[in-house]
Parts: sequence; structure tokens; C-alpha cells
Amino acid sequence: MKEFKRYLVTSALPYANGPVHIGHLAGVYIPSDIYVRYLRLRGKDVVWVCGSDEHGVPITIKARTEGVTPQDIVDKYNAMIKDSFAKLGISFDIYSRTTSPVHAETASAFFRTLYDKGEFTEQTTMQYYDEEAKTFLADRYVMGTCPHCQNERAYGDQCEKCGSTLNPTNLINPRSTITGSAPVMRETTHWYLPLDRHEAFLREWILEGHKEWKANVYGQCKSWLDLGLQPRAVSRDLDWGIPVPVEGAEGKVLYVWFDAPIGYISATKELTPDWEKYWKDPETKMVHFIGKDNIVFHCIVFPAMLWAHGDFILPENVPANEFLNLESDKISTSRNWAVWLHEYLEEFPGKQDVLRYVLCANAPETKDNDFTWRDFQARNNNELVAVLGNFVNRALVLTGKYFDGVVPAAGQLTDHDRDVLAEMPQLRRSLEENIENYRFREALKDAMSFARLGNKYLADTEPWKVYKENPARVATILNVSLQITANLAVAIEPFMPFTAEKILAMLALSKPAWERLGEQDLITAGHKIGTAELLFEKIEDSVIELQLQKLADTRKVNTENSKDAVVEPQKGSIAFDDFGRMDIRVATVMAAEKIAKTKKLLKLKIDTGFDKREIVSGIAEYYSPEELIGRQVLVLVNLEPRELKGVLSQGMILMAQDPATGRLALMSPDSKIGPGAVVK
Ligand code: MF3
Ligand code: ZN
Repeated sequence: MKEFKRYLVTSALPYANGPVHIGHLAGVYIPSDIYVRYLRLRGKDVVWVCGSDEHGVPITIKARTEGVTPQDIVDKYNAMIKDSFAKLGISFDIYSRTTSPVHAETASAFFRTLYDKGEFTEQTTMQYYDEEAKTFLADRYVMGTCPHCQNERAYGDQCEKCGSTLNPTNLINPRSTITGSAPVMRETTHWYLPLDRHEAFLREWILEGHKEWKANVYGQCKSWLDLGLQPRAVSRDLDWGIPVPVEGAEGKVLYVWFDAPIGYISATKELTPDWEKYWKDPETKMVHFIGKDNIVFHCIVFPAMLWAHGDFILPENVPANEFLNLESDKISTSRNWAVWLHEYLEEFPGKQDVLRYVLCANAPETKDNDFTWRDFQARNNNELVAVLGNFVNRALVLTGKYFDGVVPAAGQLTDHDRDVLAEMPQLRRSLEENIENYRFREALKDAMSFARLGNKYLADTEPWKVYKENPARVATILNVSLQITANLAVAIEPFMPFTAEKILAMLALSKPAWERLGEQDLITAGHKIGTAELLFEKIEDSVIELQLQKLADTRKVNTENSKDAVVEPQKGSIAFDDFGRMDIRVATVMAAEKIAKTKKLLKLKIDTGFDKREIVSGIAEYYSPEELIGRQVLVLVNLEPRELKGVLSQGMILMAQDPATGRLALMSPDSKIGPGAVVK
């Protein structure tokens, strides 16, 4: 593996439109903190930058709904995020923000360089414009009816009811969220980064040059590249952001995904006048820590920008994580479905390392994972209390009891003692290899293995039983145990810095260098240790139940909100005869195909038991033709035939529509029944 002279580590800049939650932590900030703490302990030259991402439409919308300025919003959340990170021990070298003057200047100059080099193209397109507010409308500022599920509150980029991705022009009855008026189409010109020009380079650099990247990252890059890259707009019509530094670009700002990654550069500049060597010297290893939704920006767009600019290095690795769910549901800021860091810090004072431990042990490194409060409790009680805390406590308490807190000298080591001590350098090797390859869960297991090793050693040697007969043997056992304890403190530092510090304080030991990890004499005989304190305490059921109750309350609010909005009221009553006139049958689907030029329609051939006929059904978005063939469905067979898209549709397939999402589900008999069976 290539040896680098120095490291530049970046962590995704969180949007300053809400607080940080456990998903952010497990995905990005805890892994990067572990990585950087480790590099520092190894004595590497490393700079770690982060900051708030303070531009973009969501911030302007949040400001508008709260009746404050965007600046108020970002000031509030930047302060909150910065403070809670610091309290959790996230040890950035700098936590900056993209509204800083240095950043405005850096991003502006970056744009200008690409512009002057002819690295952009210009395109004029039609976009929605609000004539009353005299402003172009970003996708999120246009609302209307979703063409898929009829939700009347769909946004120009997405329908949150049915999850479809939309363009503002897809919306039925579009309206501006600023004035409520109907927007008009107007021409606007923007600058584009022609990614297609860089495709060949990116293919070579990633697909050939970085086969070692994590499978999830490499795979996403490959599918983007295989689809073919398109030019991407790097400016927007918006009044919040960094002005486009070109004449005649009034009212236009840099697109947030253009300016935000440049924030990494600005932050480095703010940190050190020596910033250039971190960004321009190929002896620097740059690593981006991000979540999976940021992969395309960090692996394709930002590298293309750096490459087009010319004098920057590219990332050596982009260890993106998947997502963390909470109690089986997707974490969501808007639905308040999260464990918020600032709340955790208040509700669990002094338990920073418990959260750090659980989120690392359960990090979504290769697939999405689930955080549950029961798992949090179990890991605390069974691993931190019962293994780590218990071992350290026994080693210290026994030393206090038998040797007055003075480290006893070891006598003759047994084979067993030697085997136990010999495991430490092996654990160190594994731990280092795992961290260097971004396998933090495995690395944490290695660090915890020092505690497991010590715990088992005490259980096997039982010094409390041996003391009466053979105090000299106990001296050896405790010397070995204290060596393991000191090693443990070093090994867990990247993961649980607060606990590491506490152990060292209890040992009255100044921090041994990482290079000594694995050695058998980190603590010398005759040294007086301090007093033992409990490192972790059991978390009771009642504490967990409180957290679960909090989530249950949120869930209730959320279902009530979604129910009120969409469950249809009951229709007026009908006579029994009215129902009797409907002839509903079980039929089997024999063939199915999509109707050309439609999104929703399928043409089905069905066997009703008494004839075979064609029906047009609007289920193409939810079922593929293949999965329908052979299936039994319910059909209203005596509905007047109608012609749809040139097909005579004879009847109607019955379906239920999900009130929350608009999704359609077919009705089928719960066991196979002869075609033609009457539904009554
Ligand atoms: N704010 C973005 C997000 O939370 C991440 C920005 S990372 C940077 O998804 F590259 F733009 F800095
Ligand atoms: Zn919809």
C-alpha cells in the first residue's frame, strides 16, 4: 500500500436546517472521528475539516415557514450542531460554515476559474416563475396535485405521499408556495458542468483505479457511469447563496451542491495558512466520509470540479455508509422520527461513550441497519458494564485491596500468562488493519477484546481464591491484569475517548504512546494507582421504556396527521339491491402487457370462467406484467365496456388504495378458487 505524507479528512457538511441525529453520527461523524483520532495517535500529519452547509432551498423554506430570515435559521442550527458535536467528543480540527467570508471568496474564485477556462456550458430552459413575488421558483417552491396519487400537496421535486420523483411540470394545478398564485413559464439561463466531458476520465479513475473502494460506493459509481453522465446545472435562481460571479447574473447563486464541497477547501484555509499542501500535493491522502445519498457528489461531481480546476488532488477513498433506521423505520427530520443528539446529551449526561459505542458497534457499514433502544440497553449492560467496566473495576479494586494500590511486581510468568500477554500485539495488528480499511465495527471488537481477554484472565486465575495461599502469585496476576488495563485504555481511545481518559486517571498514568500498544510493561511495579470508580452503570428498563414511549407518541402524532388528510369518509347508503346488481367474479390473469405511451395502464387478458376478455387497468406502476400472470383477481364483470387507448375494456379489476401513500393493491381470494366464482 502506498504510504502518504499527510492526511486530509473531510466529513459531510450537515445542513444547518435541523439538529444532528443518530443516523448522521453512525453514518459519518463517529467513523471519521475514530479514523482521525487513530491517525493522530499514530503521529500522522492529519487535518480534519467539517462545518455547516448553510445554503440551499430547504433553509429558505424553513425560514419562510418560521417567519425568520435564512441567516437566523443557520445561526441557530450551526451553533446547536457545533455544540453537540463538541460535547460528544467529535474532534474536528475546524467546524466552519459555508456562510463564512472566506468561503464566499473561495467558492466564487473556484467558479470563476472554471468559467474562464471554458469549463461550463450555458443552457436556457423554461422554469416556473411567480409573477407576484417576482421570482423563479425552485422545485420545492412549486406545489400541486401529484399525477400518480392525486395528493394535492405534492412538491415540484417529489410527492411525499407516494414517494414518486417529480418535475415541477408534472404537477397538476401548480401553485407557488410563496404567494399561492399559479406560476407561469419563463426562460432562464444557467451554467452547467458538462460531466459528459469528464466521463472517460472518471471511468478510468474510479472503475480501473479504485477497485478497492467499498462495494456500495463502487457499485453506485459504476451504475451512474454506465447510464452515461449528463451536464448538471451549477447555478440557481434564488436569493440565498453565493452570487454567481459573472456579469449579468443578477439574482443567480451557486447551486448548493457546487458550493458546499468547496467548503472543505475554505475550512482548511481558515484552519491553516499552509492549506495548499493538503489540497495540492499528491503526497496527501484525502478521504471523504459521507452517507450513501452523497456518493454521486463526492465520487463524480466534486472530483470533476477539482479535475477541471486543474491543480487539486482527488480523494483516495470515499468510505460512504448506508443508512441507520430507528426502531425499523426510516429516520426522518420532518416526521421527527429520530434520536436527536442534543436531546440524548441532556437525557443521558456523562454517557457519550455509550452512544459512541453502540453506534459504532451497529454502524451501517455494508447495509442499512436498525437502532433499537433495547439493543442500546443490552449493549450497555452486557458489554460495557459486564465486560469492560467489570474487568477494569476488578483489576483496580483487587490491587487496592491486596497491595494498597501499589502495582505489584510480576514474579515468574506461567505459560498461560505469557499466552494471554502475547494476544495483545495480535489484537493491535488486527485493530490497525481494520481501521485503516474503514472496518470500524471490527476494529471496535478488537479494542473490546482487550477487555474480554482481561475479564477471562481474571475468571480463569481467580486471584481472590489464591491470595490466602499464594500472595506472590496474585502479585503476578494483578501485574498482568494492570498491563492489560493500560493497554485497553490505549486501544479504546479512538472509539471511547472519555472512558480511555477515565481509566488512565484511575491508573494515575499519563497516556502511553500508541506505538507501545501491545507491550507488557506500560505500567511499572511500585507505581501508585488512583481510586477505582465505576466506568459504566446499568441502564434500567424504565429508562428505555421512557424513550420508547417518546417514540410511540411521535408515531401517534404522525399517523393522526396522515389519517386526517386522506382517509375517505363513508359514502351515502345504498339498497341491498344496488349491491346485488354488481356482478363480481374471481378471474385468472392469462396475459398482461404495458400499453405503449402510458405510465399507468396495463392491458390484461383474463379468464372469467365463462369467457375470456380484455380489461385495461391502471396498475402498471405497482405491478409488472410478469408478476400478474397466473394470479387470481376480483373483477366487476358487468360494468359497461369502455374504450381506453384503443382497447375495449370489458370490466374493472378491484383494488384498494392505501390512504397514506396512494399505492394500489390488488384484491385476491385468500386461497385458490375456481375461476368464475361469484363474490357476494
Ligand atoms: N449537506 C449535505 C447533506 O447533508 C452534505 C454536504 S457535503 C458537502 O446531505 F460536500 F457538500 F460538503
Ligand atoms: Zn403522489
